[in-house]
Amino acid sequence: MNPPIHRNPITAVESPAVGVTIDGLTKNFGTFQALKNVSFTVEPGEIFVLMGPSGSGKSVLLKHIVGLEAATAGRVLINGQDATAEHTLERIRIALVFQAGALFNSLSVYDNLALYPREHRFGDEATIRDKVMRALQILSLENSAQKFPSELSGGMRKRVAIARALVMEPQLMLYDEPTSELDPVMSATISEIIATLKDEYHVTTIVVSHDRELALGIADRVGILMGGELVFLGPPASLRQPADPRIADFFHPRIDLKNPRFKTLET
Ligand SMILES: Nc1ncnc2c1ncn2[C@@H]1O[C@H](COP(=O)(O)OP(=O)(O)OP(=O)(O)O)[C@@H](O)[C@H]1O
Ligand SMILES: [Mg+2]
Repeated sequence: MNPPIHRNPITAVESPAVGVTIDGLTKNFGTFQALKNVSFTVEPGEIFVLMGPSGSGKSVLLKHIVGLEAATAGRVLINGQDATAEHTLERIRIALVFQAGALFNSLSVYDNLALYPREHRFGDEATIRDKVMRALQILSLENSAQKFPSELSGGMRKRVAIARALVMEPQLMLYDEPTSELDPVMSATISEIIATLKDEYHVTTIVVSHDRELALGIADRVGILMGGELVFLGPPASLRQPADPRIADFFHPRIDLKNPRFKTLET
């Protein structure tokens, strides 16, 4: 049975939508270049899907947007303001759903979700409870409110992380692999949530994902990183038959049983 989709998952985003500019972003870790002069703009209210092979720099890029990494060169602007400036992050509500969830293990699911609204005084406990239970319901987690993260499956933890981000009522929503570890029905639910937030609340969204269906289904534009370089920027339709052989290989890797690539790893 499909989990029900509840409309109006969040309630109070009234601030203007947020635009993001990645401007010549370069990040070195020692001598290793994780990002190489990456530039693109995400328009207010847009859904931008960032794709690319493992290790291509997707998560590192997201961390620059929330100020968790400092650029070696270049900058990230949010509504024209430097993302690393404290006042930018204070004024603009940004939620990042981390790849591994990043839940507080000592707190129940309910308290993980209630933490931010309590700290930011979203209302009395009854109001917060409504928001938390609503978000749990959207993600079919209403029976897990009193559980602890260690008692959940990987996919459930991922959904708790998404529910926690929804409760923050963000203007800018960043997801790192939101559909990995989820079954196809739950993946479709996440895609619907992302699209609903855009349509009804104009939430600007950046999704890091390997999920081509999600990209083709909900992205306004797609960027593809390879080896820290932005090798594609454009509408998802152009990914159906990509001209660039690197991108074609990424989406349709050929399995060569006569000459498997892992053999080349043997010395
Ligand atoms: N703090 C760090 N110190 C050193 N190297 C790092 C650090 N963070 C990331 N890297 C390196 O930067 C590169 C890009 O990492 P990143 O996490 O952005 O990859 P990704 O594209 O998100 O991959 P995946 O799809 O596997 O999540 C990797 O080679 C990684 O080892
Ligand atoms: Mg990653």
